[in-house]
Amino acid sequence: MDKEKFRKFGYKFVDWVVEYLESVERLPVVPRLNPGEIKEQIPQSPPAHGEPMEKLFEDFRQIIVPGMTHWQHPCWFAYFPANNSPPSVLAELLTAGLGAQCMIWQTSPAAAELEEVVMEWLRKMLGLPEGMEGCIHDTASTATLCALLCARERVTGFECNEKGLAGHLRVYASEEAHSSIEKDVKIAGFGRRNLRYIPTDKDFAMIPMELERAIKEDLEAGLKPACVVATIGTTSSTAIDPIKEIGEICTRYNIWLHVDAAFAGTAAILPERRYILEGAEYMDSFVFNPHKWMLTNFDCSAYFVRDPGTLIRTFEIHPEYLKTGVDANVKNFRDWGIQLGRRFRALKLWFVIRSYGVEGIQEFLREQIRLADMFRQWVEGHDRFELLAPVPFSLVCFRYNDGRSEDELNRLNEQLLNEVNETGELFLTHTMLRDKYTLRMAIGQRTTQERHVKKAWDIILDKAQKL
Ligand SMILES: Cc1ncc(COP(=O)(O)O)c(C=O)c1O
Repeated sequence: MDKEKFRKFGYKFVDWVVEYLESVERLPVVPRLNPGEIKEQIPQSPPAHGEPMEKLFEDFRQIIVPGMTHWQHPCWFAYFPANNSPPSVLAELLTAGLGAQCMIWQTSPAAAELEEVVMEWLRKMLGLPEGMEGCIHDTASTATLCALLCARERVTGFECNEKGLAGHLRVYASEEAHSSIEKDVKIAGFGRRNLRYIPTDKDFAMIPMELERAIKEDLEAGLKPACVVATIGTTSSTAIDPIKEIGEICTRYNIWLHVDAAFAGTAAILPERRYILEGAEYMDSFVFNPHKWMLTNFDCSAYFVRDPGTLIRTFEIHPEYLKTGVDANVKNFRDWGIQLGRRFRALKLWFVIRSYGVEGIQEFLREQIRLADMFRQWVEGHDRFELLAPVPFSLVCFRYNDGRSEDELNRLNEQLLNEVNETGELFLTHTMLRDKYTLRMAIGQRTTQERHVKKAWDIILDKAQKL
């Protein structure tokens, strides 16, 4: 592609993105497609000769876009959000243009140093303890895997890296912890049977007394407690595990405390929500995803540790071909995690934070929390709906309840969810809370306004009346 064509399509694509983000509201949030329908439209073998960009762009619009689920739709209320923003998108464009691979300082000094700077900005924005340092990962799953590997090495005196895993190291998480914990426990070699799920209280938060009981039981059985994964903002209901009490237990038994705040961590940017980090001084590691609720497009997961030495000792590797003359004076982020090659993710964070400013981000978060509170009040004020969990952030867990049996209510709410989603006007997902089929209204899209939340409630009421 020559320079002029590159420029022409560059402008065209930016125009397309601007239009898309403006008009996505008019598209069904989830495409009505059967599995395989997209593949049928694409040749099974690659073209022998290059094709014109006009044709590629046309196929993108005709085949790909209609087959996408629109995460940036203002009526996106499913899972958790993965919101983007114009400054973030523009930074990603520059990142792609630079095409840098940021494995070590020498391969991209500005990327390495900017990553240090934005991580320190984030630490200050959230009010994390001074001295915590970190790096950017793709996802919270990866960050939690790093935490488990560090915990494994610390508890075995770094023997496991040398000899492989011996004996039974135990990991604890609440029964509401995200599935990535189980996956990471498997990958890190602990074995799924060594993950102990700790019961939760009426608000779905881990019960510290139960944690301590499990640890004592394991110690008596000759097992080795290695790591506790606590959650701030569980996936099902955004419950908050009591970090301080859990941290005191971890300190007593010398257990690594990792805190998974993938979605809700962003809320700590608000001084009035900072209480969620009470006990942060006990954390060995902490992860939150700016790619969920901080206007930064996927992927971007900020991982902090209290002791970078343990982290580096767990991951460092020094092949001759990667040695440089400045290694003693710089951070080589290849030694801070699993992968060698690294994307330049700091740029989009830098653009987002500078472009909105801390106050702009706070304003955005407060509005989302206000919208969720409004929705919560509608649910609570309706005699045929009920709230199924507290609403500490912007997720409302609720269900229709006209007094039928639990089994019937589960079936009815599943039907309600399907009918609501079939309208294409909005997208909600579900979970189970104490065996109750629960609808999750997760507010967090950058463009979601009161009218979108109202429309969602109206559709839910309408479908509920017709059940
Ligand atoms: C509490 C929690 N932890 C971890 C994850 C996994 O996040 P990621 O996709 O970044 O691995 C999620 C995803 O929603 C989550 O809610």
